[in-house]
Amino acid sequence: MTEIKKILLGIDGSDGSYKAAGYAADLAARVGATVTLMFVVSDQYTDRFIAKPTYTPNEEIMVGSRFNRAKAIMEEKHVAYDTVVEMGNPAQKLIATGDSGYDMIVLGTRGLSAVKEFMLGSVSSKVVQHSRIPVLIVP
Ligand SMILES: Nc1ncnc2c1ncn2[C@@H]1O[C@H](COP(=O)(O)OP(=O)(O)OP(=O)(O)O)[C@@H](O)[C@H]1O
Ligand SMILES: [Mg+2]
Repeated sequence: MTEIKKILLGIDGSDGSYKAAGYAADLAARVGATVTLMFVVSDQYTDRFIAKPTYTPNEEIMVGSRFNRAKAIMEEKHVAYDTVVEMGNPAQKLIATGDSGYDMIVLGTRGLSAVKEFMLGSVSSKVVQHSRIPVLIVP
């Protein structure tokens, strides 16, 4: 039987990702799964604003605060969670991590981008198209 024990949740600090967090927490509480909150610091961002691939104290604060709301959501529903930060291409990192032993990836429809011309953001659409494990997109 299919079991959902490990859920990978993409958090970028957007309202869409926190909505996904709410759904992931409800699902995890119901089936007894754990949730990994993952934020990928994208290459693009690093190049543009930091100009070196290092993990600065400032960025750590930025990353930490991004997780705060999602952590609170997990705690409210008594869901066990951990956090992961990686640097690279967000879709690729989410797909590779998902493939390393997770049962499902949960993402929001949209993220931080101001451009809303497409139904799905580029990260969610790439993950849906290339993931080898099931992906749940929360509208
Ligand atoms: N850097 C990231 N790290 C972790 N999860 C992410 C990241 N970026 C996006 N996600 C996940 O993917 C969902 C959709 O975001 P996406 O980036 O695809 O849309 P967008 O920002 O509106 O558009 P785009 O980035 O393509 O301009 C988010 O709600 C979040 O769950
Ligand atoms: Mg985005």
